[in-house]
Amino acid sequence: MFGPVRLGVNIDHVATLRQARGEFEPDPLFAAHLARLAGADQIVLHVREDRRHANEGDLRRLRETASLPLNLEMALSPEMELMALEMKPERVTLVPERRQERTTEGGLGLDEGFLNRLVPFVSRCRAVGIRVSLFMDPDPERIARASKTGVDQIEIHTGPYARAFGGPEEKEALAALVRSAEAIASQGLLVAAGHGLTVHNLPPVLGIPRLFEVNIGHSIIARAVFFGMREAVGEVRSLLLGSGLGKRL
Ligand code: PXP
Repeated sequence: MFGPVRLGVNIDHVATLRQARGEFEPDPLFAAHLARLAGADQIVLHVREDRRHANEGDLRRLRETASLPLNLEMALSPEMELMALEMKPERVTLVPERRQERTTEGGLGLDEGFLNRLVPFVSRCRAVGIRVSLFMDPDPERIARASKTGVDQIEIHTGPYARAFGGPEEKEALAALVRSAEAIASQGLLVAAGHGLTVHNLPPVLGIPRLFEVNIGHSIIARAVFFGMREAVGEVRSLLLGSGLGKRL
């Protein structure tokens, strides 16, 4: 069945605000429920090694109460592997993680050590029904190698495109996303895109062939500060409803 491109809403920034005060508000769970009411298809939560925003308590509460698929972003560390296998999110998105970065800065490298840990992780996830996605730079050659690791999906890093948007490099940055999507789809994997997407730069991205899902955090939460969560999710949702290119499972 075909339908609009799916929307994942990343609620980490709500947890960042909570952590700024070290109290209980604002509660990211509340944001998850509002995102669901506004039409989100999944909630995205990144539990980092340093727990600077979301933590396992948030993850647990999301699993227990939010009736939406969960995409857990995480580094491939032994601690996070255990957490994923216990919490069983519908999806795990593997990202590189560096303590000094403000947000995920680039896609995964595919060094041998990573690949050696990835393959058994993917089969353990498969055994309990978790689908695995890899966050990759828009580099079709590296993507083609990543597609052979048994993962279900690849999320293309749209940060370079978002930075180029409106400037002379935009066309080439978008073309790199298209080539990457073709490389993913030709291996039979699902195509996702995320990072730096906004209501302004999203429309050209929706023309990417076989796009299945976008994951958006910062811009939605930033706009929610002024317009409310439902409005901020709803305006992205309206753009997606016109897309009609995604493929629902
Ligand atoms: N997808 C991935 C894999 C990410 O790491 C992030 C940032 O946490 C996002 C999407 C969302 O990016 P942004 O917050 O810029 O919308």
